[in-house]
Amino acid sequence: MAGRLDGRACIVTGAAGGIGRAVVEAFSREGARIVAMDLADPLGRTVWPGDGIVPIACDLADRAGTERAVAAAVETLGGLDVLVAAGALKGGSGPFLDLTDEDWDRYIGVNLTGMFVLCRAAARAMATAGRGGRIVTVGSVNSYQSEPNAAPYVAAKGGVAMLTRAMAVDLASHGILCNMIAPGPIDVPNNGDSYRAPKLAAALRDEVALARPGLPEEVAGAALYLAEAANGYTTGATITVDGGLSAMIFGAMRGG
Ligand SMILES: NC(=O)c1ccc[n+]([C@@H]2O[C@H](COP(=O)([O-])OP(=O)(O)OC[C@H]3O[C@@H](n4cnc5c(N)ncnc54)[C@H](O)[C@@H]3O)[C@@H](O)[C@H]2O)c1
Repeated sequence: MAGRLDGRACIVTGAAGGIGRAVVEAFSREGARIVAMDLADPLGRTVWPGDGIVPIACDLADRAGTERAVAAAVETLGGLDVLVAAGALKGGSGPFLDLTDEDWDRYIGVNLTGMFVLCRAAARAMATAGRGGRIVTVGSVNSYQSEPNAAPYVAAKGGVAMLTRAMAVDLASHGILCNMIAPGPIDVPNNGDSYRAPKLAAALRDEVALARPGLPEEVAGAALYLAEAANGYTTGATITVDGGLSAMIFGAMRGG
């Protein structure tokens, strides 16, 4: 039976991370040909399930390096049909009053400027080939909702939401559909046991409608839909994968 991405040429960034790796695995099962990008050779850290996955190192903080990495990927794959941009610097940076210029530049540089440079390079390759494409950015529920001590991350993720919509508008005439996934709390190795720690586990039970953290595979499922040909009319949209976190009013306010 044909896979949902049979023969499609895909770049996945953040491929050594929890969500990126799940995207690589899901896309590979569906027949995609994949360049897996991350800071270091992702193949060195893991065993991939399928053939046709080529690692290319890419530091999103390095604009010229990111351009080169995309060019190498396009050459390797003989074109580009899909970009899933999951790579990002995560975590809080501290209280607002203590933030340094360097804190700001680090998060904006990787998570917003890096995202822009990456998407522009991918979009140029797709537009030049003239056969359309799919760009899937990974934002966050923090694209819309803040949390303490994370201003640069939250600002960058808010920027990713509008960058994605702007790309959807500007690239529509090239047949390039651009959408964002906004994950909520997803249980990835890099988060350690934090979602299983008693305090956070109790908060998730209370504040997430599905009462648990999500799985990276559940984010990959959304990426798969946005990347495949069956998606012909969704562009500039966000798929929120947060177990109902953002659908529900804060616990203390409920029942009033
Ligand atoms: N896990 C969650 O709860 C959650 C929630 C909301 C949004 N997200 C978003 O999902 C995406 C994937 O996150 P994850 O949870 O898999 O985290 P992760 O830390 O496991 O993966 C992120 C990957 O990005 C890579 N990366 C970091 N800086 C980079 C740089 N300068 N250049 C290239 N790659 C770089 C890391 O090496 C890592 O492999 C991120 O965009 C993150 O912001 C995750």
